[in-house]
Amino acid sequence: MPFESHKHIDYKQFKTSYRTHLCGEIRKDNLNEKVSLCGWVNSRRDHGKLIFIDLRDFSGIIQLVFDPARSSETYSLAKKVRTEFVLRVEGLIRKRSKDTVNKDLATGEIELSVEDLKVLGKSSTPPFLLTETEKVDEMSRLKHRYMDLRSTKMQENLRLRHAIVSQTRDYLNQKGFLEIETPILAKSTPEGARDFLVPSRLNPGKFYALPQSPQLFKQILMFSGFDRAYQIAKCFRDEDLRADRQPEFTQIDLEMTFVDEDDVISLIEGMMAVVFRKVLNTELKLPFRRMTWQKSMETYGSDKPDLRYDLPLTDVSDIFSGTSFNVFKQVLSKKGCIKSLVIKEGQSFTRKDLDQLIEMAKNYGAGGLVWARVEPDNTLKSPIAKFLSTGETGSLVKKLKLEPGNLLIMVADNFLVTCNSLGAIRKHIGQKLGLIKSGYEFLWVHDFPLFEKDSRDNTITPMHHPFTQPDCESIKLLDHDPLQAKSLAYDIIVNGQELGGGSIRINDLNLQKKIFELLGFTPEMIEQNFGFFIKAMDYGIPPHGGIALGLDRLVMILGQLESIRDVIAFPKTQSAVCMMTDSPSGVTNKQLQEVHIEITKSD
Ligand code: AMO
Repeated sequence: MPFESHKHIDYKQFKTSYRTHLCGEIRKDNLNEKVSLCGWVNSRRDHGKLIFIDLRDFSGIIQLVFDPARSSETYSLAKKVRTEFVLRVEGLIRKRSKDTVNKDLATGEIELSVEDLKVLGKSSTPPFLLTETEKVDEMSRLKHRYMDLRSTKMQENLRLRHAIVSQTRDYLNQKGFLEIETPILAKSTPEGARDFLVPSRLNPGKFYALPQSPQLFKQILMFSGFDRAYQIAKCFRDEDLRADRQPEFTQIDLEMTFVDEDDVISLIEGMMAVVFRKVLNTELKLPFRRMTWQKSMETYGSDKPDLRYDLPLTDVSDIFSGTSFNVFKQVLSKKGCIKSLVIKEGQSFTRKDLDQLIEMAKNYGAGGLVWARVEPDNTLKSPIAKFLSTGETGSLVKKLKLEPGNLLIMVADNFLVTCNSLGAIRKHIGQKLGLIKSGYEFLWVHDFPLFEKDSRDNTITPMHHPFTQPDCESIKLLDHDPLQAKSLAYDIIVNGQELGGGSIRINDLNLQKKIFELLGFTPEMIEQNFGFFIKAMDYGIPPHGGIALGLDRLVMILGQLESIRDVIAFPKTQSAVCMMTDSPSGVTNKQLQEVHIEITKSD
């Protein structure tokens, strides 16, 4: 069910001294009523004897008719009106004749016969037609965002965003949460991205960091006994941008006291159910599925699998324990694995398609991939056919239930590289073959590793953030095998997108210090970065946990939109530039001096 913004408009509230109604609200019930309306000229057609104007406000469009026989003065003024002029009109609602009814307009059965017209604002020729914004280059839309935002599409998207935020607030307020704001001029929080820094005029040489998330502040609110707090929080991360990432984005950020994973998960499930019901009139099936990180990686090659289609990966390492194929042999000797994907409709894959899959595997760090076509006699046609024994072929056919026409794909490497590359290929194939069903498939991924290895320098980094509680069993692994430790973290996934993530937090000071040490922090670094937090933890800390959902992503999902820029009023481009205001931009030398900064040009 798509979002229908008109169902969320309380028309009565919009009556002002300028207007009696909104443009989109007038129906046959209003026939012969005298109304006054305000809005923009969407289009104007001069038919000589009569002038027609489509008047637009956020609620819709209504046709105005100017007839010299009714008012010659009004008619003459209407001749001078152009697209995007702002008008106030007064007149009578009348029925359109049968042959002029416009079925595409909600107001298509009626029109307003104008008696009085006032031009409230003139417009230059617009940079593009609002009715054709989908044909306009995005850079131009962003540069003239004040015009682009007038389009029906952007109006609907931002109304959808508002509806989601407002339902979220109502839900959390009812559940006893307080909405508490936390600072924007903050101290660096480690969420894995670079910080945006703000120099301090009053503290020469010192910088604030814009928050990557309100993580530490929301935990401290729990230390302080507020029990439950949330905020619609602005977050800032200086990272490479993608279709679902912005440098400045918004989280529905919450934290709760005396809770375990199930408490947070069921709260969020309830919230999603309410938001989908109230905003989209769609019922979600609760509870959502849950899957451990290990199972999700093994089966779908991703920690955010799209469950709208099946296409699982199968491990075939056991079949190749005695292989003569050197690549497989070497991988297995290094404790790697061989995984496979079977494409039922494999015949449609050309040599070029296969080369594309090989490139994809390489992009994810694999040496390449092996493909094999299943022939009518169940033999395999493959570049590595001569290395496959009859036993191995037979085992593959049996284990994977291969049938003639299938295409088999195999990747051999370490666990993560194998999973990630086949996961990306699974996603590509799901899209290419149109396997994706409609609807919403929610999933909780949990039991994440506490740490991951940073392959660049062999150090360990937190998979979520350093405040995540290890699971009970894992605490003893911290000293000798920290990479095997699991955490009490959970991610909520919908249709293959990470909507949010959270965890139960560490509430033991010594454990928190130990995690910092494992991450390579010296006592001085801990003091410098988290001294305040460590001190706060010394005064009786309750068990607590929370989560943050990406609001922008939630709006994209409900609106079925591809680009995050379409759900943000004033977004940045891929290179983090605001085209409308031309920011970031230079500043004066005086401003730089005031904040004690000197630019040393490197070019
Ligand atoms: P995390 O870093 O997983 O967790 O972020 C939570 C959610 O925020 C959204 N998100 C983004 N959306 C748009 N652009 C970005 N650059 C961007 N980065 C993240 C995603 C993501 O799932 N403090 C923890 C939460 C917690 O533990 O409570 C945190 O920020 O939807």
